Amino acid sequence: MKIRLLIAAFTACLPTSIAWDPDAGLMVSYTKSAIESVSSTSGSYMERVIDGDDNTNWVSGSCLPNFYMNRPDVNVLFGKFHEGKCAVNGVDALNMDHVTDGTPYTSFDVHSFNKSVFSLTLDSPTILHVISLSGKYNDDVHLYAVASGSKHFLQAIGTSSNYQNVNTFPPNVSITAIELVSNSSFNINELSALAENGCIERITVDLGANKHVGTVRTRHWAGTNSTSHLVLMLSTDRKSWKTVAELDPNTLRAITTSVSSQVARYIAMEYTVNLRNYNKVYCYEIDAWDEHGAWGPPIASKPQTKTFRELLGVNGIWGWGTQKYSSQLTNDMSGPLLYNKLASHARNYHNLNWDVTDPDTDPEYSEMAAGRGTQA
Ligand SMILES: *[C@@H]1O[C@H](CO)[C@@H](O)[C@H](O)[C@H]1NC(C)=O
Ligand SMILES: *[C@@H]1O[C@H](CO)[C@@H](O)[C@H](O)[C@H]1NC(C)=O
Ligand SMILES: *[C@@H]1O[C@H](CO)[C@@H](O)[C@H](O)[C@H]1NC(C)=O
Ligand SMILES: *[C@@H]1O[C@H](CO)[C@@H](O)[C@H](O)[C@H]1NC(C)=O
Repeated sequence: MKIRLLIAAFTACLPTSIAWDPDAGLMVSYTKSAIESVSSTSGSYMERVIDGDDNTNWVSGSCLPNFYMNRPDVNVLFGKFHEGKCAVNGVDALNMDHVTDGTPYTSFDVHSFNKSVFSLTLDSPTILHVISLSGKYNDDVHLYAVASGSKHFLQAIGTSSNYQNVNTFPPNVSITAIELVSNSSFNINELSALAENGCIERITVDLGANKHVGTVRTRHWAGTNSTSHLVLMLSTDRKSWKTVAELDPNTLRAITTSVSSQVARYIAMEYTVNLRNYNKVYCYEIDAWDEHGAWGPPIASKPQTKTFRELLGVNGIWGWGTQKYSSQLTNDMSGPLLYNKLASHARNYHNLNWDVTDPDTDPEYSEMAAGRGTQA
């Protein structure tokens, strides 16, 4: 009867027109405030990482076989001509800038009387993972890596590779220069290389202003074996970055990462991409809040006004763990006696459906008293 009254009262108070809001009380993510923007090292659909949909994604471009050549951030030979790093044994250096200009559609003619030699000196000894050459040859061109005190022959590239991109994977040594040697003149369309860090892809969300960042939620599954390493980074100026977490690129579901609370305007995910042809990485969603996360600051606690007896109910009918009714345990300290002192401060309850199949049904306690059990 009491329950019926309660349900009736509850139903009467509910306005019928209010729609259920499953996100009621959630804090709006910094990436959903309309002043933010997204950029990435390559690829398409980058704005999908802030579209509020965990199932839409940015996809990066590919570094290999040679799509990285126009990217100064990963191609360590990009623009080296303009730093005076290129040399040729002939007299004519016209158009030598075409060797490191980031496009295979411009070329430089290397020609000397006997032997044609082109060399590119690196800023400092560097481990190179990949050297990419595209050109047109009249005879074999030998590719060398010059290391301290030694010259490593890497590959002979012949006329059958004309106008194609040829990738060479040098040994794990610090290289000081790259040399191309041929008995005939040849054309270099582009010479590029990936260094020790290999191919890096980064997606960056600009929050539009400095914010207190303490929680970052990401759905960042990178693709099957697409990447060896994934880090979460924060920055206030986009120049100096702080790595705040290492993430598992194989995690399928979205994860929430607590980071030490700090001021940041830029949030970046940096993927170290495995060096395979046409390999790409993905990111699905990036959200951020302060240290209180999506739920906001905790509500301040206040003293409880109800007594312990009003709050706590104890199921005293069944002697849990003993396979007996508690009434059968009265002489046993594992039974009700164990809780006697505490129980006097609490209410005693058992489930309604132990007695009745429906709250409207009479449990017929008189029947129970007569040893025939309740209605249920
Ligand atoms: C070309 O080779 C010949 C014979 O090896 C040599 O006599 C000549 O000096 C070389 N010319 C140049 C420009 O190196
Ligand atoms: C390359 O060599 C360095 C030091 O010589 C070593 O630490 C590194 O593990 C090597 N890398 C690979 C891929 O073998
Ligand atoms: C140039 O010709 C000489 C003599 O035939 C040969 O030994 C050498 O390997 C050739 N060099 C290249 C780069 O093909
Ligand atoms: C993952 O990719 C790396 C680099 O491409 C490769 O060496 C490795 O064998 C791959 N692992 C698996 C399990 O496919």
